[in-house]
Amino acid sequence: MKRVIISGMGVSVPEAVISNEELVDCFNKWVERENGSRGEAEQLQKSSAEFIYHASGIKRRHVHTPDGILDVNRMAPRIPARDDDELSVTAEFGAAAARNALEDAGIDAAEVDLVICAGSHLQRLYPSIGIEIQNEIGAQGAAFDISLGCSSAASGIHVAVNLLRSGAHRRALVVTPELITAHLNFRDRQTHFIFGDSATALLLETADEGDVRPGRFEVIDTSNWTQFSNNIRSNFSYLNRAAQEDVSVIITEGNLIKQQGNKVFKDVTVASHRFIVDFLARHGRTPETVRRFWLHQANARMNQMILKLAFGREIGPDIAPTVLEELGNTAAAGAVVALAWHHKDMQAGDYGLLCTYGAGYSIGGALLRMM
Ligand code: COA
Repeated sequence: MKRVIISGMGVSVPEAVISNEELVDCFNKWVERENGSRGEAEQLQKSSAEFIYHASGIKRRHVHTPDGILDVNRMAPRIPARDDDELSVTAEFGAAAARNALEDAGIDAAEVDLVICAGSHLQRLYPSIGIEIQNEIGAQGAAFDISLGCSSAASGIHVAVNLLRSGAHRRALVVTPELITAHLNFRDRQTHFIFGDSATALLLETADEGDVRPGRFEVIDTSNWTQFSNNIRSNFSYLNRAAQEDVSVIITEGNLIKQQGNKVFKDVTVASHRFIVDFLARHGRTPETVRRFWLHQANARMNQMILKLAFGREIGPDIAPTVLEELGNTAAAGAVVALAWHHKDMQAGDYGLLCTYGAGYSIGGALLRMM
């Protein structure tokens, strides 16, 4: 089996920022207006910036398109449709991260022979966004899309690493454009604050092809785990239209992201800490022997709890850094952003674990060692 290395990391974070206070202000204005017209019906509850920070660790989020999100009459980004012969919005977002990963690696796109677009929110079914990114950046070979909720990037890495190990491909880009605010229900008190937008890309290559040099990671192994759950769900589908009498209405709020946040919290905390302990044990390691954990960036308290269960003690940000305060939950991109932003201080021989969890349920891991 061939050895696989990560030779480039790319991140694209949108400039526009929305703070908890701004988001809550808009939400609460909408609640006041709704309650005014509800009569005897149960009144809606307001949201609070203090609750959001305390419950999740999120202070603000970067959003791809701020226009429309804080408009109480809309509460959704306004992203104009593009013609079929224009570059699509998510391919553009992913291509920006892919170019950053190629630049980081010092590799020309023409040297890449596999592009996997791995995201929780793919813009369409076909043509695949991966193929559009492949075409836009000038990569060769094959491309396709993978979707596994917030574990999408980890599942993309899992597939890419094993295709490279087997010799089927030489160089792969795993691109994760998460434009999730477009599918977020900004009128749902439990979910409106959670997500932000970011795109990431990792360039993976076989050690035969790649420049094996200090500061880069070797991928020791990858793993995926899934178990069906309805607790995080998006019902957006091509069947939505056929389910309605009025076929001109394509999407309703019921088809946006919904979740039972506290159930997700409990289930995923238990499953993820077991996954971490078992995955490391398969490689003769315990959590204490891993220098850094780049966990899915969903909730700071949840990450602390997962690591407390895995280690049997409190774990600080030096071992498990978060990017949540600044970015919010950027779905499958979050753990890769944490990896890209928090690895430069690691020493040769240090181990690190990327571990993501999310809808499905799904958990994905990649055990890395710095060369
Ligand atoms: N503002 C103010 N109060 C809020 C609120 C808001 N936006 N949302 C919920 N609350 C209140 C509830 O009404 C409840 O009040 P009560 O105790 O008086 O009844 C209290 O906060 C606790 O509600 P709960 O839903 O149990 O909150 P929580 O502590 O579980 O935190 C989440 C909510 C969503 C932050 C948390 O469950 C979470 O992050 N879960 C994981 C979700 C996730 O990661 N999803 C994506 C996975 S990829």
